Amino acid sequence: MERRHFVRTTLAGAASAAVGLAAAPAARAAQTPALHNIVFTENDPGHFAGLQKLHVPIVKVANGVLKVRTPHPMSEAHYIVSHTVVLEDGRFLSRKTFNWHDKPISEHPLPAGFKGTVTITSTCNLHDWWLTRVTV
Ligand SMILES: [Fe+2]
Repeated sequence: MERRHFVRTTLAGAASAAVGLAAAPAARAAQTPALHNIVFTENDPGHFAGLQKLHVPIVKVANGVLKVRTPHPMSEAHYIVSHTVVLEDGRFLSRKTFNWHDKPISEHPLPAGFKGTVTITSTCNLHDWWLTRVTV
């Protein structure tokens, strides 16, 4: 499978799954059992419970730009690898990769006039894939 197609397919699936992950815990488990302990969120940190505050991306929107920050320490052994942004319809918007000596902060201009839901991921080299969603 072409890498771009794989990423688009995977992120579109994650975006769809995020709707289920935002649900109440009992309903969440019933809706997304295949993603529990694979995709982590504030409400479903799985086996990484207690690590949400360091990994869930914090997103602000101003003047058509998503500003993403992960409040995670950065060291050579443990760091945030990337931020990825996918629009509501599954369109890949952008990705920012980090080296361990970078600050895990990124900016992602939205398409002009965009209104809708955006899925943002933050990937840790030790604690995997954390996801949040915002509505613009
Ligand atoms: Fe981590």
